Amino acid sequence: MKTVGVLTSGGDSPGMNAAIRAVVRNAIAKGCRVIGVRRGYDGLIQGQLEEMNLSSVADIIHRGGTILRTARSEEFRTEEGRKKALNVMKVFGIEGMVVIGGDGSFRGAEELSKLGIPTIGVPGTIDNDLAYTDYTIGFDTAMNTVVEAISRIRDTSTSHGRANIIEVMGRHCGDIALHAGLAGGAESIIIPEVGLDIEQVCRKLIKGKNRGKLHSIILLAEGVGGAIELGATIEEMTGIETRATILGHTQRGGSPTAFDRVLASKMGAKAVDLLIEGKQSLVVGIKGNEIIGVDIEKALSIEKKLDKETYQLADILSM
Ligand code: F6P
Repeated sequence: MKTVGVLTSGGDSPGMNAAIRAVVRNAIAKGCRVIGVRRGYDGLIQGQLEEMNLSSVADIIHRGGTILRTARSEEFRTEEGRKKALNVMKVFGIEGMVVIGGDGSFRGAEELSKLGIPTIGVPGTIDNDLAYTDYTIGFDTAMNTVVEAISRIRDTSTSHGRANIIEVMGRHCGDIALHAGLAGGAESIIIPEVGLDIEQVCRKLIKGKNRGKLHSIILLAEGVGGAIELGATIEEMTGIETRATILGHTQRGGSPTAFDRVLASKMGAKAVDLLIEGKQSLVVGIKGNEIIGVDIEKALSIEKKLDKETYQLADILSM
Protein backbone atom coordinates (compact mmCIF):
# COMPACT_ATOMS: atom_id res chain seq x y z
CA MET A 1 0.00 0.00 0.00
CA LYS A 2 1.74 3.17 -1.18
CA THR A 3 -1.06 5.72 -1.49
CA VAL A 4 -4.03 6.06 0.85
CA GLY A 5 -7.03 8.33 0.26
CA VAL A 6 -9.21 9.75 3.03
CA LEU A 7 -12.62 11.40 2.95
CA THR A 8 -15.40 12.43 5.33
CA SER A 9 -19.02 11.94 4.26
CA GLY A 10 -22.59 12.45 5.47
CA GLY A 11 -23.39 14.52 8.57
CA ASP A 12 -20.24 15.81 10.23
CA SER A 13 -19.40 14.98 13.83
CA PRO A 14 -16.96 16.42 16.40
CA GLY A 15 -13.80 14.32 16.30
CA MET A 16 -13.72 13.80 12.54
CA ASN A 17 -10.67 16.09 12.36
CA ALA A 18 -8.87 14.02 15.00
CA ALA A 19 -9.60 10.93 12.89
CA ILE A 20 -8.25 12.60 9.71
CA ARG A 21 -5.12 13.60 11.62
CA ALA A 22 -4.61 10.02 12.79
CA VAL A 23 -5.07 8.63 9.27
CA VAL A 24 -2.63 11.11 7.74
CA ARG A 25 0.07 10.85 10.40
CA ASN A 26 -0.09 7.08 10.85
CA ALA A 27 0.00 6.52 7.08
CA ILE A 28 3.00 8.83 6.66
CA ALA A 29 4.75 7.17 9.63
CA LYS A 30 4.29 3.82 7.87
CA GLY A 31 5.74 5.11 4.59
CA CYS A 32 2.56 5.92 2.61
CA ARG A 33 1.46 9.02 0.69
CA VAL A 34 -1.93 10.43 1.68
CA ILE A 35 -4.47 12.06 -0.62
CA GLY A 36 -7.27 14.05 1.02
CA VAL A 37 -10.62 14.16 -0.78
CA ARG A 38 -12.76 17.25 -0.30
CA ARG A 39 -16.58 17.14 0.07
CA GLY A 40 -17.00 13.37 0.41
CA TYR A 41 -18.00 11.18 -2.53
CA ASP A 42 -19.11 14.25 -4.55
CA GLY A 43 -15.57 15.64 -4.33
CA LEU A 44 -14.17 12.26 -5.30
CA ILE A 45 -16.27 12.24 -8.47
CA GLN A 46 -15.34 15.85 -9.25
CA GLY A 47 -11.62 15.34 -8.64
CA GLN A 48 -11.34 17.62 -5.60
CA LEU A 49 -8.26 15.90 -4.19
CA GLU A 50 -4.90 17.03 -2.88
CA GLU A 51 -1.88 15.47 -1.25
CA MET A 52 -1.69 15.90 2.51
CA ASN A 53 1.42 16.10 4.69
CA LEU A 54 2.17 16.28 8.41
CA SER A 55 1.39 20.01 8.51
CA SER A 56 -1.95 19.62 6.68
CA VAL A 57 -3.35 18.19 9.90
CA ALA A 58 -1.55 20.46 12.38
CA ASP A 59 -3.72 22.34 14.86
CA ILE A 60 -6.95 20.45 14.12
CA ILE A 61 -7.27 17.81 16.87
CA HIS A 62 -9.38 20.18 18.99
CA ARG A 63 -11.56 21.53 16.18
CA GLY A 64 -15.13 20.50 15.38
CA GLY A 65 -16.39 19.96 11.83
CA THR A 66 -14.16 18.43 9.19
CA ILE A 67 -11.30 20.19 7.38
CA LEU A 68 -12.03 17.97 4.36
CA ARG A 69 -15.65 19.20 4.39
CA THR A 70 -18.49 16.79 3.70
CA ALA A 71 -21.52 16.10 1.51
CA ARG A 72 -24.35 13.63 1.05
CA SER A 73 -23.77 12.44 -2.52
CA GLU A 74 -26.61 11.39 -4.80
CA GLU A 75 -24.32 10.91 -7.80
CA PHE A 76 -22.20 8.27 -6.09
CA ARG A 77 -25.32 6.12 -5.76
CA THR A 78 -25.32 5.75 -9.57
CA GLU A 79 -23.03 3.37 -11.47
CA GLU A 80 -21.89 6.24 -13.67
CA GLY A 81 -20.92 8.32 -10.66
CA ARG A 82 -18.94 5.45 -9.17
CA LYS A 83 -17.11 4.90 -12.48
CA LYS A 84 -16.08 8.57 -12.51
CA ALA A 85 -14.83 8.20 -8.92
CA LEU A 86 -12.79 5.13 -9.83
CA ASN A 87 -11.13 6.97 -12.72
CA VAL A 88 -10.21 9.86 -10.43
CA MET A 89 -8.71 7.44 -7.88
CA LYS A 90 -6.64 5.81 -10.63
CA VAL A 91 -5.32 9.20 -11.79
CA PHE A 92 -4.21 10.00 -8.23
CA GLY A 93 -2.76 6.50 -7.71
CA ILE A 94 -5.01 5.76 -4.71
CA GLU A 95 -4.66 2.12 -3.68
CA GLY A 96 -6.73 2.16 -0.49
CA MET A 97 -9.34 4.45 1.04
CA VAL A 98 -10.45 5.43 4.52
CA VAL A 99 -14.05 6.68 4.69
CA ILE A 100 -15.13 8.50 7.86
CA GLY A 101 -18.91 8.74 8.27
CA GLY A 102 -22.12 6.94 9.19
CA ASP A 103 -24.10 4.05 7.72
CA GLY A 104 -24.76 5.72 4.34
CA SER A 105 -21.05 6.46 3.97
CA PHE A 106 -20.25 2.83 4.84
CA ARG A 107 -22.46 1.62 1.98
CA GLY A 108 -20.37 3.83 -0.29
CA ALA A 109 -17.21 2.33 1.24
CA GLU A 110 -18.48 -1.14 0.38
CA GLU A 111 -19.02 -0.02 -3.22
CA LEU A 112 -15.44 1.30 -3.39
CA SER A 113 -14.12 -2.08 -2.22
CA LYS A 114 -16.26 -3.78 -4.87
CA LEU A 115 -14.64 -1.49 -7.47
CA GLY A 116 -11.28 -2.92 -6.43
CA ILE A 117 -10.14 -0.15 -4.05
CA PRO A 118 -9.71 -1.68 -0.58
CA THR A 119 -11.69 0.55 1.77
CA ILE A 120 -12.00 0.78 5.55
CA GLY A 121 -14.79 2.72 7.30
CA VAL A 122 -14.41 4.77 10.47
CA PRO A 123 -17.68 5.54 12.33
CA GLY A 124 -18.12 9.32 12.51
CA THR A 125 -21.67 10.26 13.53
CA ILE A 126 -23.19 11.85 16.61
CA ASP A 127 -26.14 9.41 16.48
CA ASN A 128 -24.34 6.33 17.92
CA ASP A 129 -26.70 4.33 15.73
CA LEU A 130 -24.25 1.65 14.57
CA ALA A 131 -24.83 -1.55 16.55
CA TYR A 132 -21.47 -3.22 15.84
CA THR A 133 -19.59 -0.61 17.89
CA ASP A 134 -20.13 0.63 21.46
CA TYR A 135 -19.39 4.22 20.44
CA THR A 136 -19.20 6.34 17.30
CA ILE A 137 -16.97 9.41 17.01
CA GLY A 138 -18.89 12.55 18.02
CA PHE A 139 -21.52 10.91 20.22
CA ASP A 140 -19.77 11.78 23.47
CA THR A 141 -19.35 15.43 22.46
CA ALA A 142 -22.98 15.73 21.33
CA MET A 143 -24.14 14.14 24.57
CA ASN A 144 -22.11 16.63 26.61
CA THR A 145 -23.54 19.53 24.58
CA VAL A 146 -27.05 18.32 25.38
CA VAL A 147 -26.24 17.84 29.08
CA GLU A 148 -24.95 21.41 29.27
CA ALA A 149 -28.12 22.67 27.60
CA ILE A 150 -30.26 20.68 30.06
CA SER A 151 -28.47 22.31 33.02
CA ARG A 152 -29.07 25.78 31.63
CA ILE A 153 -32.70 25.13 30.81
CA ARG A 154 -33.30 23.49 34.20
CA ASP A 155 -32.35 26.78 35.92
CA THR A 156 -35.07 28.72 34.16
CA SER A 157 -37.47 25.77 34.35
CA THR A 158 -37.22 25.90 38.16
CA SER A 159 -37.58 29.69 38.32
CA HIS A 160 -40.83 29.61 36.34
CA GLY A 161 -42.19 26.23 37.41
CA ARG A 162 -42.53 25.17 33.79
CA ALA A 163 -42.14 21.95 31.85
CA ASN A 164 -39.38 22.36 29.26
CA ILE A 165 -39.31 20.10 26.24
CA ILE A 166 -35.88 19.72 24.64
CA GLU A 167 -35.71 18.18 21.18
CA VAL A 168 -32.45 16.46 20.29
CA MET A 169 -31.16 14.70 17.17
CA GLY A 170 -31.84 11.02 16.52
CA ARG A 171 -34.27 9.97 13.82
CA HIS A 172 -34.18 6.23 14.45
CA CYS A 173 -31.84 5.92 17.39
CA GLY A 174 -32.52 7.48 20.79
CA ASP A 175 -29.01 7.15 22.23
CA ILE A 176 -28.38 10.90 22.49
CA ALA A 177 -31.69 11.49 24.28
CA LEU A 178 -31.33 8.43 26.51
CA HIS A 179 -27.78 8.99 27.70
CA ALA A 180 -27.96 12.79 27.94
CA GLY A 181 -31.33 12.40 29.67
CA LEU A 182 -29.86 10.06 32.26
CA ALA A 183 -26.84 12.33 32.77
CA GLY A 184 -29.00 15.44 32.96
CA GLY A 185 -31.70 13.98 35.22
CA ALA A 186 -34.54 14.49 32.73
CA GLU A 187 -38.02 13.67 34.04
CA SER A 188 -39.07 11.95 30.81
CA ILE A 189 -37.09 10.58 27.88
CA ILE A 190 -38.96 9.95 24.65
CA ILE A 191 -37.12 7.88 22.04
CA PRO A 192 -38.03 6.16 18.74
CA GLU A 193 -37.30 2.67 20.12
CA VAL A 194 -40.10 3.07 22.68
CA GLY A 195 -42.38 5.76 21.24
CA LEU A 196 -44.53 8.33 23.01
CA ASP A 197 -46.92 7.49 25.82
CA ILE A 198 -48.39 10.94 26.36
CA GLU A 199 -50.53 9.88 29.32
CA GLN A 200 -47.51 8.53 31.15
CA VAL A 201 -45.52 11.72 30.48
CA CYS A 202 -48.39 13.86 31.82
CA ARG A 203 -48.96 11.59 34.84
CA LYS A 204 -45.30 11.90 35.79
CA LEU A 205 -45.41 15.69 35.41
CA ILE A 206 -48.46 16.06 37.63
CA LYS A 207 -47.07 13.65 40.23
CA GLY A 208 -43.83 15.64 40.33
CA LYS A 209 -45.68 18.94 40.63
CA ASN A 210 -47.83 17.60 43.49
CA ARG A 211 -44.65 16.55 45.26
CA GLY A 212 -43.42 20.13 45.03
CA LYS A 213 -41.07 19.66 42.10
CA LEU A 214 -40.46 22.99 40.40
CA HIS A 215 -38.71 22.03 37.19
CA SER A 216 -39.46 19.42 34.55
CA ILE A 217 -37.24 18.45 31.65
CA ILE A 218 -38.66 16.30 28.88
CA LEU A 219 -36.08 15.05 26.42
CA LEU A 220 -37.50 14.22 23.01
CA ALA A 221 -35.63 12.53 20.15
CA GLU A 222 -36.54 14.16 16.82
CA GLY A 223 -37.64 10.83 15.32
CA VAL A 224 -40.68 10.72 17.63
CA GLY A 225 -42.02 14.20 16.88
CA GLY A 226 -41.56 17.93 17.36
CA ALA A 227 -40.97 19.71 20.69
CA ILE A 228 -43.36 22.59 19.93
CA GLU A 229 -46.31 20.28 19.20
CA LEU A 230 -45.55 18.09 22.20
CA GLY A 231 -45.33 21.16 24.46
CA ALA A 232 -48.76 22.36 23.29
CA THR A 233 -50.33 18.94 23.94
CA ILE A 234 -48.79 18.68 27.40
CA GLU A 235 -49.97 22.18 28.32
CA GLU A 236 -53.47 21.32 27.18
CA MET A 237 -53.55 18.02 29.07
CA THR A 238 -51.93 19.16 32.34
CA GLY A 239 -52.42 22.91 32.55
CA ILE A 240 -48.68 23.21 33.22
CA GLU A 241 -46.99 25.96 31.25
CA THR A 242 -44.46 24.60 28.72
CA ARG A 243 -41.59 25.89 26.62
CA ALA A 244 -39.84 24.10 23.75
CA THR A 245 -36.17 24.18 22.72
CA ILE A 246 -34.81 22.53 19.58
CA LEU A 247 -31.05 22.00 19.99
CA GLY A 248 -30.60 21.10 16.30
CA HIS A 249 -27.16 21.56 14.82
CA THR A 250 -25.60 22.89 18.04
CA GLN A 251 -25.19 19.15 18.73
CA ARG A 252 -23.08 18.64 15.63
CA GLY A 253 -20.47 21.32 16.28
CA GLY A 254 -17.96 22.26 18.93
CA SER A 255 -14.61 21.09 20.16
CA PRO A 256 -14.57 17.29 20.62
CA THR A 257 -14.32 15.88 24.13
CA ALA A 258 -11.14 14.08 25.18
CA PHE A 259 -13.05 10.79 24.82
CA ASP A 260 -13.92 11.53 21.18
CA ARG A 261 -10.37 12.69 20.40
CA VAL A 262 -8.85 9.50 21.82
CA LEU A 263 -11.45 7.32 20.09
CA ALA A 264 -10.94 9.09 16.75
CA SER A 265 -7.14 8.88 17.03
CA LYS A 266 -7.25 5.14 17.74
CA MET A 267 -9.82 4.39 15.05
CA GLY A 268 -8.18 6.50 12.33
CA ALA A 269 -4.79 4.87 12.98
CA LYS A 270 -6.34 1.39 13.04
CA ALA A 271 -7.99 1.95 9.64
CA VAL A 272 -4.58 2.64 8.10
CA ASP A 273 -3.02 -0.39 9.81
CA LEU A 274 -5.79 -2.61 8.42
CA LEU A 275 -5.19 -1.31 4.88
CA ILE A 276 -1.45 -1.93 5.22
CA GLU A 277 -2.22 -5.48 6.42
CA GLY A 278 -4.07 -5.98 3.13
CA LYS A 279 -7.59 -5.87 4.61
CA GLN A 280 -10.60 -4.39 2.84
CA SER A 281 -14.34 -3.89 3.24
CA LEU A 282 -14.08 -3.53 7.02
CA VAL A 283 -15.33 -0.94 9.46
CA VAL A 284 -13.47 -0.04 12.62
CA GLY A 285 -15.29 -0.07 15.96
CA ILE A 286 -14.77 -0.30 19.71
CA LYS A 287 -16.04 -3.17 21.87
CA GLY A 288 -15.20 -2.93 25.53
CA ASN A 289 -11.78 -1.35 25.35
CA GLU A 290 -10.66 -3.02 22.16
CA ILE A 291 -10.52 -1.41 18.71
CA ILE A 292 -11.91 -3.95 16.27
CA GLY A 293 -12.41 -4.43 12.53
CA VAL A 294 -15.74 -5.88 11.34
CA ASP A 295 -16.89 -6.82 7.84
CA ILE A 296 -18.98 -3.88 6.50
CA GLU A 297 -21.93 -5.97 5.41
CA LYS A 298 -22.02 -7.82 8.71
CA ALA A 299 -21.66 -4.57 10.68
CA LEU A 300 -24.57 -2.95 8.84
CA SER A 301 -26.79 -6.00 9.26
CA ILE A 302 -26.63 -5.92 13.07
CA GLU A 303 -29.79 -4.33 14.42
CA LYS A 304 -29.37 -1.58 16.99
CA LYS A 305 -31.49 -2.52 19.97
CA LEU A 306 -32.79 -0.49 22.88
CA ASP A 307 -30.53 -0.54 25.92
CA LYS A 308 -33.42 -1.52 28.20
CA GLU A 309 -31.40 -1.43 31.41
CA THR A 310 -30.32 2.17 30.84
CA TYR A 311 -33.83 3.17 29.81
CA GLN A 312 -35.39 1.62 32.92
CA LEU A 313 -32.71 3.09 35.16
CA ALA A 314 -33.34 6.58 33.80
CA ASP A 315 -37.05 6.09 34.45
CA ILE A 316 -36.54 4.91 38.04
CA LEU A 317 -34.09 7.69 38.89
CA SER A 318 -36.30 10.45 37.47
CA MET A 319 -39.28 9.72 39.74
O1 F6P B 1 -27.00 11.51 11.05
C1 F6P B 1 -26.56 12.61 11.75
C2 F6P B 1 -27.62 13.65 11.89
O2 F6P B 1 -27.08 14.66 12.69
C3 F6P B 1 -28.97 13.19 12.46
O3 F6P B 1 -29.00 13.06 13.84
C4 F6P B 1 -29.89 14.27 11.96
O4 F6P B 1 -31.22 13.83 11.91
C5 F6P B 1 -29.34 14.57 10.60
O5 F6P B 1 -27.96 14.21 10.64
C6 F6P B 1 -29.48 16.00 10.15
O6 F6P B 1 -28.95 16.11 8.89
P1 F6P B 1 -28.68 17.49 8.13
O7 F6P B 1 -27.49 18.14 8.77
O8 F6P B 1 -28.43 17.09 6.73
O9 F6P B 1 -29.92 18.31 8.32
